[in-house]
Amino acid sequence: MSRLLSLVTLSAIAAASVVQHPLTDGSNSQALIKSKPLVSSEALEGHIKPKNLLRRAEKLFEIAELGAADYNHPTRVIGSAGHVGTLDYIYSTLAELDDYYTLSNQSFKAVVGNVFESRLVLGDKEPESTYPMSLTPPTKHKEPVFGPLVLVANRGCDPSDYPSDTKGGIAFIERGVCSFGDKSAAAGKAGAIAAVVYNSENGFLSGTLGEPSKYHVATFGLSRQDALPFVKELEAGKTIKSSAYIDSIVSKAPTTNIIAQTKGGDQDNCVMLGGHSDSVAEGPGINDDGTGSLTLLEIATHLVNYEVNNCVRFAWWAGEEEGLLGSDYYVSQLSEEENLKIRLFMDYDMLASPNFAYQVYDARNAVNPTGSEELRDLYTKYYEAHSQNYTYIPFDGRSDYDAFIKHGIPGGGIATGAEGVKTKEEAAKFGGTPGQWYDPCYHQICDTVDNLNFEAWEFNTKLVAHSVATYAVSFEGFPKRTGIKVATREEPSLYHGPKLVM
Ligand SMILES: *[C@@H]1O[C@H](CO)[C@@H](O)[C@H](O)[C@H]1NC(C)=O
Ligand SMILES: *[C@@H]1O[C@H](CO)[C@@H](O)[C@H](O)[C@H]1NC(C)=O
Ligand SMILES: [Zn+2]
Repeated sequence: MSRLLSLVTLSAIAAASVVQHPLTDGSNSQALIKSKPLVSSEALEGHIKPKNLLRRAEKLFEIAELGAADYNHPTRVIGSAGHVGTLDYIYSTLAELDDYYTLSNQSFKAVVGNVFESRLVLGDKEPESTYPMSLTPPTKHKEPVFGPLVLVANRGCDPSDYPSDTKGGIAFIERGVCSFGDKSAAAGKAGAIAAVVYNSENGFLSGTLGEPSKYHVATFGLSRQDALPFVKELEAGKTIKSSAYIDSIVSKAPTTNIIAQTKGGDQDNCVMLGGHSDSVAEGPGINDDGTGSLTLLEIATHLVNYEVNNCVRFAWWAGEEEGLLGSDYYVSQLSEEENLKIRLFMDYDMLASPNFAYQVYDARNAVNPTGSEELRDLYTKYYEAHSQNYTYIPFDGRSDYDAFIKHGIPGGGIATGAEGVKTKEEAAKFGGTPGQWYDPCYHQICDTVDNLNFEAWEFNTKLVAHSVATYAVSFEGFPKRTGIKVATREEPSLYHGPKLVM
């Protein structure tokens, strides 16, 4: 099988290179473009070699080391030298590909936050499960503030849930119904000096306030177990003198999405795919999402040998880890006309987790834009055709497809797993270690080249190549775009990016 595949590839490359003799004038170079063979899955997949992926991953790690100057360890977080280096690497690699792509930088201001120190004291206790929310503002003057803990009615989504003594107090709010950001703003409007959101289910609560608001107050998450004794005391009418302290900053910093679109192919019917160029501050992010970014780059460099019928648009998003900022911005800037040119969006985030499962987003037409399910089935058919197992995972807003499906664009993608725990059944299906995270180095300093599973990465990169080639050739049988409106979903998703938002 693989021998046959490489023969096919060689002949495709040969066909492409026959015409690459020195050409003297413009009409001949036009002929050069025209005489490239039409792309096919076999041909594009045939270019994918683990050693090329490895070389790119090593290069990316070197780039991440530039981030150590400011962060004391390799990172490619937005604003770091490691992220700037990543953008330069992606851009310069594409810029070398002659005139095949239209390249553009889309700059925008990203919200970034950092919590330096925090402390929450309720009565005489410091609950262990306390987590400051991401993008929380500091307490007043970055100093401890003091006030009674105030039990908020219902879920604190409505102004009437806040009793009058919220003013000057620390609002104590149950999780659910609306986002953490909405709760924090509602508490702020009611005059609270800080807020604590306690979990409505078991487990600790670590999330983000999302888009900053001038009404946000310093906000913590707390486990249900730690919270319930206080709820009881407050219901019994006891006063719980408390204090909150957060030293943090929330600021805006410029960053860039990189977009590359084939000059060839129907410019009104594009297949779009994306990965994110940034990592978290805690580590170099070679799996998350070095793998997705580099898979796209590798495929983009080989696609230039072929002709396409439909345009192919690659995107490298910035600020995914801060809450899908780049992809949100991109989609927000599309006119209706431009939106409708995107026939589908494919998200590629974390393709080589060391303890991998072949995961396919369970994107369904019943709840997502029509076409999402056809894309899902393209992936599952490929795994089946190659006698590989796969598993469905929730299509719940944790990566850059979110803005697309919220604006009527069919979406989907594949992944290999983050901080989820591999089950016994999955270990039987994919090998690896049950009871362990798919990626034990997820969002940590050890997400290096050594963290990658090259079997999974090579296989998935070929699948990405298949997805690109399939739609670059034809959208036959793929639903037409009908509009940009989407039905509001009954169940709002708990994520917008890697962190919980509600
Ligand atoms: C686009 O951004 C990249 C990465 O920061 C940079 O290297 C390149 O010069 C920029 N190109 C243009 C035309 O601004
Ligand atoms: C697929 O999963 C089954 C168990 O469900 C296992 O027996 C089989 O070996 C797996 N296939 C591959 C290619 O890993
Ligand atoms: Zn990611």
